[in-house]
Amino acid sequence: MDKKELEKQYQELIAQVEKHNHLYYVENAPQISDREFDELYKKLESFEKDHPKLVMDYSPTRRVGAKLPKNSKFEKREHLAQLLSLSNTYNISEIMDFFTRIKKGTDSEENSCQVILEPKYDGISIELVYENGKLVRGVTRGDGLVGDDITQNIRTIMDIPLALRSPYPGKLSVRGEVYLTFDEFDKINQRREKAEKKPFMNPRNAAGGTLHLKDPEIVDSRMLQCFVYDLVFTDGPKYESHLEIIKDLKRLGFKAVDNFEKLDIDQSEIIDEVEKKIEKWEKLLPTLPYPVDGIVFKVNSIALREKLGTNIKDPKWGFAYKFPTREVPTILDDIEYNIGRTGALTPVAILKPVLIDGTVVKRASLHNFGDIVKKKLNYGDKVLVKKAGEIIPQVVKKIDNQDEETLLEQPHRCPVCHTRLEERSESDEEDDIQLFCPNPHCQDRMIQSLIYFVHRNCMNIDLVGEKIITRLFARGLVRKPIDLYKLREEELMQLDLIAEVSARKIIESIENSKTVEFYKFVRSLGIPNVGEFVAKKLAGYFSTLENLIEQIENSSVAILFDELTGKGEKEIKGIGKITAFRIIEYFQNWKNLDQIKKFSDVLLIENGKNKARSEKLADLKFCLTGKLSLPRPEIKKEIEKNGGRVVATVSNQTDYLLAGEKPGSKKAKAEKLGVKILDEEQYRTLLN
Ligand code: IVH
Repeated sequence: MDKKELEKQYQELIAQVEKHNHLYYVENAPQISDREFDELYKKLESFEKDHPKLVMDYSPTRRVGAKLPKNSKFEKREHLAQLLSLSNTYNISEIMDFFTRIKKGTDSEENSCQVILEPKYDGISIELVYENGKLVRGVTRGDGLVGDDITQNIRTIMDIPLALRSPYPGKLSVRGEVYLTFDEFDKINQRREKAEKKPFMNPRNAAGGTLHLKDPEIVDSRMLQCFVYDLVFTDGPKYESHLEIIKDLKRLGFKAVDNFEKLDIDQSEIIDEVEKKIEKWEKLLPTLPYPVDGIVFKVNSIALREKLGTNIKDPKWGFAYKFPTREVPTILDDIEYNIGRTGALTPVAILKPVLIDGTVVKRASLHNFGDIVKKKLNYGDKVLVKKAGEIIPQVVKKIDNQDEETLLEQPHRCPVCHTRLEERSESDEEDDIQLFCPNPHCQDRMIQSLIYFVHRNCMNIDLVGEKIITRLFARGLVRKPIDLYKLREEELMQLDLIAEVSARKIIESIENSKTVEFYKFVRSLGIPNVGEFVAKKLAGYFSTLENLIEQIENSSVAILFDELTGKGEKEIKGIGKITAFRIIEYFQNWKNLDQIKKFSDVLLIENGKNKARSEKLADLKFCLTGKLSLPRPEIKKEIEKNGGRVVATVSNQTDYLLAGEKPGSKKAKAEKLGVKILDEEQYRTLLN
């Protein structure tokens, strides 16, 4: 047979296998039995064996590639266009505000008030790039501009085509969500538990972890799937609507978003309509085989999308509604206590395992012992648990024996070092009880202080984390932060699994941390209540480490206290009495001062970088709310650069509430407390 004929035969075989793969994995409607498929697949395999030179990269037999070296890193890749995110809400009225904004952008003659409603798949967002109809790249979303090149792993996902159906554009980039069904997630976790590996928290984490494995064979075994829901770039035909895009993506061979609905947002009963849809979706959720955490609304007309434009990170034409987090009942089995670096005891509720939105919840946090008192908790109580924000679940309240007054017993001794606990209260409320272990040598306190010291916000010793600290401590190699700077490679190599190269790199990372900004060093001391803001204030005030030591040694405590709270000659305003007290308490302890002196022989402190560049907002406390024209971290930076401070909640200590669009409950609170409310223009005037 001549080469052309062979090639034709090969292409036909590929097309046959691909057709049946597609029918099985995308359409969910196989036309041949598994046995018939196996025969067909084997035929293709044996053809390739006989004609190795003809083998194409997009052949269905070439989905699983070779392993990547264990310590290799996924390459970073720029997306063809920015992968935007979506603003989201838990509030139906905000969906209406979104519709109003769209209508404002619509010309009356345009018939474009159609919005498409789609499921919000809870997986990992990826970009797929095709050149001349062949998959060339699969990249994670990353920061929206650059992500990890995970092409090897993406190729194993059976509903992602390696080759598009023709006609196809020269270049095409689409966006989708890689996910795991609940069934696959359970299977993976069962296998992990058998192998004594930590189970994944939820299907999304499992999908994310799988996409970052170095062995495509394992990825292949995990049966990831992908819904494609957006076009990022094409040099092919222009589309007029989202539905047209979805239809064409299906034609090209993708498993494009299903279950979408059209909404006419001009109709008068639109709010009832949306409520009905949300209700319908909430009922549908438990029946779906894969996780969905909300619904997405998208303007259908591409022309209107272009007219509406985008904000910095999200388009003005799209919006997501997230289903409210469910509160699920379970039993409180036990309480454990974690001891922080300051000695504070944080109770952790140990629960009968319960599934919340696809995550098995076994532990939940409680604020402090007062929280147990307030919620009248005892062992064996039936409690409601919810997932707060993303990860840490919380005990909401107990739901049986509401009038039962017997509480679980308040611990009197530290569970680690058995020192008698102290009770402290940060407010006047009767049941605001925080328990403290006062023993500075308590093992858990010391370990937590070390973990805090190496954190990236403090000394930033990036290769030393919790695991290494715990092992170094257990071996008695490091007890106090200064000991880290005495460590030798041979000592590190005494720890399991640390070989020479790693030990060298760890020592290097410790060495690198010696050059540090003064405020970061001050923060790393772990003085109670001293976070970034106060650390910067202290660093600015003392200006050098030598000066700090001298002042602490020579100033009487009362003078320093007055200066910290703003009554002295030099004044460090913005530091409250309790914090000032904690600072004095810390510096008064000669052992702490002794430690600091030892650091001055080791570290190379960079001074001055931490000084505010302007004092325009000196000591003013701002709280931010609503949608502002810049991302919040940028505004926070700007305020801090000008000497101000950003706080999370409005109180009568707050000087200004900077309110953007849709300010929410903080505004009402500010009005009630008489806190001045600024819009962005007034804020700019204040700055300039
Ligand atoms: S559209 C520019 N549609 O939700 C709009 N996103 O913040 C791009 N997601 O990161 C997103 N299902 O990972 C869109 N049907 C869907 C989606 C969806 C899930 C994810 C996506 C994105 C996040 C939105």
